[in-house]
Amino acid sequence: MLPTVNATAYLTALKEGGSLPGIVEADDLGTYVVKFRAAGQGPKALVAEIVVGTLGRQLGLRVPELALIELDVEIGRREPDQEIQDLLVRSAGLNLAIDFLPGSLGFDVGSAAARARVDPVEAATILWLDSLSANVDRTWRNPNLLMWHRQLWCIDHGAALRFHHSWGRTDSFAASPFDWSQHVLRDIAAPLGPLADGLAARVTPAALSAALDLVPDAWLAPDPLRPDPDAPADPAAARAAYREVLLARVAAMPSWLPVAP
Ligand SMILES: Nc1ncnc2c1ncn2[C@@H]1O[C@H](COP(=O)(O)OP(=O)(O)OP(=O)(O)O)[C@@H](O)[C@H]1O
Ligand SMILES: [Mg+2]
Repeated sequence: MLPTVNATAYLTALKEGGSLPGIVEADDLGTYVVKFRAAGQGPKALVAEIVVGTLGRQLGLRVPELALIELDVEIGRREPDQEIQDLLVRSAGLNLAIDFLPGSLGFDVGSAAARARVDPVEAATILWLDSLSANVDRTWRNPNLLMWHRQLWCIDHGAALRFHHSWGRTDSFAASPFDWSQHVLRDIAAPLGPLADGLAARVTPAALSAALDLVPDAWLAPDPLRPDPDAPADPAAARAAYREVLLARVAAMPSWLPVAP
């Protein structure tokens, strides 16, 4: 299980984030970036954050630590900004907390010095994970990579695993190609050919189960706000379905592998 903390104060909104994440203080004295359950794509974005972030860690990538955070409705009611108040009140209960990296800067792909700090094999591993999980949110325009203490950290995996938005069409997901034409690490990553089999071998049923076990049951239950007749009926079925789809995608490699023309 992920550790659970309790929110003590909502500090500020991260306005640059499309899903209106906030910086929140918790009772373990930690500071977190919180992704709210009631935002944008709903709990599925939080599922993708946990599953893909954990797979990234299993592959040796730096992903800020994740926790679950309990949000008291009173914290929302005290918020003066109407849009944020509404989001917080509707998100009362469990949300996703991501360890805040103080002083981190967005990765600037235009800077030769920043590019030089990136290990090509690490870049290739990130590109491979994004291809596996169909993460469209790591482009030049929106890199979702932070530099912290001169090292690269991966954030924002909420848009990955798009198959969970339409469970009736998961068959076509397994072999669907990944558009990496605007991937921020496209020109930095080492060639994936020699690395891909080794990476794929690490995405085992056990590794996927470990990642899926970290997701709270409530976020895997059918979402009443976004009905899908083909959605798995309960959390256990959902975990099995995610595992099956992702293993089918691993097996379908190299059809989705980014390889230079
Ligand atoms: N762990 C962190 N530590 C420090 N800053 C962070 C962290 N996570 C996110 N940020 C900052 O907050 C911004 C928004 O976070 P994130 O990209 O995860 O949110 P989002 O709403 O999913 O954004 P997007 O608009 O890309 O969909 C990031 O671009 C980054 O500047
Ligand atoms: Mg982002």
